[in-house]
Order: sequence, then structure tokens, then C-alpha cells
Amino acid sequence: MLDYEKEAGDYDALRGGEARAEAAARAVLGLTPGGAGRLLDVACGTGIVTRRLAAARPRLRVTGVDLTPAMVGMAAARLPGAVVRADSRRLPFPDAAFDAVTSIWLLHLLDDPEDVRTVVAECARVLRPGGVYVTTVDKAAAHDVGSDIDAVLADRPRRPAADAAATVTEHAVRHGLRPAGETVFRGTGQGRSPRSAIADLRRGWFTVLPPGGPRTEEFAARLARLPDQDRPRADPSFRVCAFRRPAAV
Ligand SMILES: C[S@@+](CC[C@H](N)C(=O)[O-])C[C@H]1O[C@@H](n2cnc3c(N)ncnc32)[C@H](O)[C@@H]1O
Repeated sequence: MLDYEKEAGDYDALRGGEARAEAAARAVLGLTPGGAGRLLDVACGTGIVTRRLAAARPRLRVTGVDLTPAMVGMAAARLPGAVVRADSRRLPFPDAAFDAVTSIWLLHLLDDPEDVRTVVAECARVLRPGGVYVTTVDKAAAHDVGSDIDAVLADRPRRPAADAAATVTEHAVRHGLRPAGETVFRGTGQGRSPRSAIADLRRGWFTVLPPGGPRTEEFAARLARLPDQDRPRADPSFRVCAFRRPAAV
């Protein structure tokens, strides 16, 4: 996983900024019942999405939780008193405490498949009957938009997607949730150009291609031969799934 302590300062600018945050918040709220009273944003990061969730529905009490101190510091500045530092594998909240729980761009980061199961279980545990869990799935696949850059990167080594929709659904169902719809949001401004893809490679964003490694530099050289080095290709579209805890009978 990237070192989010180091990423925090540039995080918002490098991840599509406010336009991406707005699109992500709209997707989450579109899958969250209007009457929801308490929402937990798991792995809230800098709070760029979290604060939009809170602003869009003034009657929604929003709490953010994240593990990385620098990210928590930025989120807490945006949402004073509403951000907690904690591990999403052990959420510090009682059972059934929230009407909605969301995790945007978390599950794909988890290296150990058992962690994905544990996080989904924790999100389900803190959800009240009738509540909804909304999460991104298949994150890495979203970046493949069929461009010339993707053609160059097609044969790169990859690790299996930790956040595959089928896997996340299986965990959710095992922990008492039922599929309850899905949507996508646009990663506005996140379309790659050859030059930005080279920078991402050298930053270590392609987790199995270490910065400075010979294969990494091979891909960088191939990307450097593409035309229009600074022209961004299409924006990615990120998939978001919702799961509901059935209401008590
Ligand atoms: C890609 S960022 C997403 C942030 C935010 N949801 C957004 O969409 O902007 C991933 C975040 O997950 C957090 N994170 C990683 N592992 C975590 C864990 N086990 N528990 C809580 N947060 C975690 C990182 O600190 C980072 O802030």
C-alpha cells in the first residue's frame, strides 16, 4: 500500500480534486436513503468527499474514520469533531450504530484478502437493520479506458483485485447484507496522459512495478514513445455498489 502519511499533502490534487469528490459524494448519496440520520465514512482520507456528504444533507450526521495520522489531520480540519483515527478492521463503534456506511477507494488497497473480509464484516456490523453499505469495487479496472496507454500497460504484472465485485458481494452477503443497487462516478480530471502515467509508474502507484525497477523503466520507455505526451486520455468511471441490511421483522 502507498504511504498515505507521505501522500496526504498532494492527495486531493492528484486524485481529481473537488470535481472527483463531488462525483463520488453524489454517487454515495444516490444510493443512501434520504431519511438516513448517521453516516460513517470509512477510510475518509483528507475528508474531501466526507465534507460533501455532510454539506449535501444537513440533517445527516457524518463521522469519518481513517488510519493515517496526516489524513486524519486534514479531514479533522474540514470536519471538526467528526473524525476519528482508527483501523477499519476494528471499528470503534457499537453494533448497529449507523444508518449508512461508505468506503470509497479502500478495499482495493488491502493486501491481505482476509482484511477485505474483515473490513466488510465491520462495515456490516455497525450498520443498523435497514441500513446501507456503499463501497467502490473493481477500482483498478476503471483506469483501463481502452486507450493507447492501456495497450502499452496491458501485459504488466498485476495482483488480483482485492475489491473484485464478486468477492465484495460474497463477503457482504455472508455478513447479512443484500445487494441493493449500484452506480458509477466519473474520475473527472483523472484521465492519464503518457507523461502522467510515467510519473505514476515512478511514484510506485502500480504496486507490482517498483519505482526504479528494470520492468518499470521498460514500461516508462514504451509510454514515452506514444504521441501527445501531455494529452489526457478518457476519464475513468468508478463502480460503486450498495448492500442493505434487511430491516428487522
Ligand atoms: C485512496 S484513499 C481514499 C480516501 C477517501 N475515501 C477518498 O475517496 O478521497 C485510502 C485511504 O484509506 C486509508 N486506509 C488504509 N488502510 C486503512 C485501514 N486499515 N483503516 C482505515 N483507513 C485505512 C488511508 O489512510 C487513506 O486515507
